[in-house]
Amino acid sequence: MKVLELYSGIGGMNYALHESGIAAKVVAAVDINPVANDVYRHNFPETALMNRNIQSINAQELNKLNVDVIFMSPPCQPFTRLGLKKDALDNRTCSLLHILSLIPELKNLRYILVENVKGFEISQMRDKLVDCIKSCGYVYRELILSPCQFGIPNSRHRYYLLAKKNNLKFCFKQSSLENNLLPDLFELLPKSKHLTLAEEKGKINPKSGSLCYTLDNILENTEESKYLVPSKLLQKRAWVLDIRTSENNGSCCFTKGYGRYAEGTGSVYCPFTDETIRLKYNEVANHENDSDKQMQILSDLKLRFFSPREVCRLMCFPEDFQFPEHITDKQKYRLLGNSINIHVVGRLILLLCTEHEDT
Ligand SMILES: C[S@@+](CC[C@H](N)C(=O)[O-])C[C@H]1O[C@@H](n2cnc3c(N)ncnc32)[C@H](O)[C@@H]1O
Repeated sequence: MKVLELYSGIGGMNYALHESGIAAKVVAAVDINPVANDVYRHNFPETALMNRNIQSINAQELNKLNVDVIFMSPPCQPFTRLGLKKDALDNRTCSLLHILSLIPELKNLRYILVENVKGFEISQMRDKLVDCIKSCGYVYRELILSPCQFGIPNSRHRYYLLAKKNNLKFCFKQSSLENNLLPDLFELLPKSKHLTLAEEKGKINPKSGSLCYTLDNILENTEESKYLVPSKLLQKRAWVLDIRTSENNGSCCFTKGYGRYAEGTGSVYCPFTDETIRLKYNEVANHENDSDKQMQILSDLKLRFFSPREVCRLMCFPEDFQFPEHITDKQKYRLLGNSINIHVVGRLILLLCTEHEDT
């Protein structure tokens, strides 16, 4: 099968396709961001990558490529929880509207996978997408999933739409978007290394209620000072940091502002125990009027950002994924924050491409 990867970024969908094991190949990838494209080319030199605006693509070009499958993760800003939620009125949705205008003309297209932020499911763009694919003769399923449901100690709730031509049958039924349909889905999938690790070395995460492995499984030996949370940030934001230790089995969603902002952009790591952190924070509270002393106590905790490699591991990028030398840490976090969880999407590709007789 021939896959078109739209909004390809650093190639998350291409990696997910590899991980799924489905016999398919990305025949073209399109993104407008030259930095993301440098990373994509570095890892997939053989893939035809187009550095261009998706709005400039026409149906003839795609029909020449004989595309059977489209994978896409359109920009999420129009739909994010903290954004203005301008939805279909946001200029950044123009390219998705353009794709919807092309879909009726694509002769070989049979499968579509869309990823976006949680919130997309209640947007007008979602309604437009569903109207388009239904009128073109597709059946579809929608899910909201997070890696922590797959044994991976990271939270990243994302909306997914899987669609296929209505002569092909889904192997699972639509149920309510966020219910825990996973036990049923897992029955359909081969056992993954993440679930095995979670069963062997994991524990139930009290927040998510999921069985996940602990963070010691993704840590690397970093130079101690390299990723330390700067004292300026500590001074202002020490109380809102989401601090994790190697024994924890969860972490917050990493977003593109990680490494620059502390609140809501991802967790930070502490090489000590939860008990030490609790005691140190109590001590800080006892020195309310002495900010120098507070900073001294906090710096003992050696709080640091998870390294880009550790974030890659939490997002299930393979170990051979590399950033080219010229990409800065800030750019790495930004690109990773925009990307996808490879394992979750790989599983969804497998579910999308598995047909069933009676459903
Ligand atoms: C949510 S990210 C997708 C990330 C990708 N799935 C990955 O694994 O890195 C959205 C991407 O769409 C690209 N983009 C946004 N508008 C575009 C347009 N009109 N044409 C081409 N690419 C666009 C951005 O540069 C960004 O890389």
